[in-house]
Amino acid sequence: MKKFTEAEKQLLIVIGWLKSRYGLMAGMNVDGKASRSNLEKFGKVWIGKYLVDWSDAYRSLVANGYLLENNEDYLLTEKGNEARKELEITNPLWLYEYNNFFSIAEKSNAHALFCEKVYGKNLCQHGLADIFQLNKMLEVLGLTDSDRVLDLGCGNGFITEYLQEQTGAFFEGLDISEEAIGQARKRIEAKNEQLTFSVGNINRLDFNPQTFSAVVAIDTLYYVNNLEESLKKIIEIIKPNGQLGLFFTQWINNLEDKASLLPENTSLAMLLKKYNLKFTSFDLTEHEAEHWRKKVDVLEQLKPKFEKEGNLDLYNYRYSEAVRYADWDSSKRSRYLYHIRL
Ligand SMILES: C[S@@+](CC[C@H](N)C(=O)[O-])C[C@H]1O[C@@H](n2cnc3c(N)ncnc32)[C@H](O)[C@@H]1O
Repeated sequence: MKKFTEAEKQLLIVIGWLKSRYGLMAGMNVDGKASRSNLEKFGKVWIGKYLVDWSDAYRSLVANGYLLENNEDYLLTEKGNEARKELEITNPLWLYEYNNFFSIAEKSNAHALFCEKVYGKNLCQHGLADIFQLNKMLEVLGLTDSDRVLDLGCGNGFITEYLQEQTGAFFEGLDISEEAIGQARKRIEAKNEQLTFSVGNINRLDFNPQTFSAVVAIDTLYYVNNLEESLKKIIEIIKPNGQLGLFFTQWINNLEDKASLLPENTSLAMLLKKYNLKFTSFDLTEHEAEHWRKKVDVLEQLKPKFEKEGNLDLYNYRYSEAVRYADWDSSKRSRYLYHIRL
């Protein structure tokens, strides 16, 4: 693939996501134009402090056939779209999203309080798994100090640390966000030899076969480029008789797809069945609906604290997500913890 400048990468990715839920959450009209001002508004929200100047990138991407400009509306050409898809594997939009999130959340007392109230303990969580759900996973996995566990998409490692302390197992945390892994390393690694962290990509897992006795993924499988490919790779790096603990929410847009909400029919379960992986599932659907409502309530209570810290952007980021999913029709969503024993 052509080597793009950082500005070209950002612009290609942003054009790809402007007319999507990311655009909606950034307050964009998804039927609107991909004009420079709309693209840059989107960039400010999602790329945040990593945003670079795109002036040259508009010109070079048009000149090299990746973009078309039509009446102040930028469109990806077929070549541009192919390049964007490939870029998204190693440089997805949420890489910026999570680098921004962790860089601000780690230092925010309001966010710490938010996590404590919503999740039952402040572990700088971003997903949906509260202490009840994490403990449920630990109960099901029954890890001991002879286990070697990979936490896929570990964020800044507070959750991994909690799991390690509860079990005595060796944990490796992996995340695509350099910011998150930098924080985890700085805080923990020298102090706890049973924990290690690495920057890595679930789309490009690079471990020897049979490295781990267990792999957990706490609300991270939604981000993979190809779930089937990643699942095959995950299975390869687990030892015989090893296990997997996976939190997975299935959303549908259309009630005609209702059957796919059943635990044996979610997109993850279909793959588990395809590869003859026996699983048990624990239904957390109701718990999830409650979770989003609680997030909205707690955020509203804490808004003045976020404001006082100068962290209204962080507040709005968490609030827009919470409202979106609290309002989601609960007959169009299901959530499970899957336990797989190889
Ligand atoms: C919803 S958050 C969940 C974080 C944490 N497990 C939790 O439950 O709070 C998703 C995490 O996955 C990471 N992530 C997203 N895509 C990834 C990828 N391709 N490879 C590794 N980590 C990824 C993000 O950086 C983020 O930390």
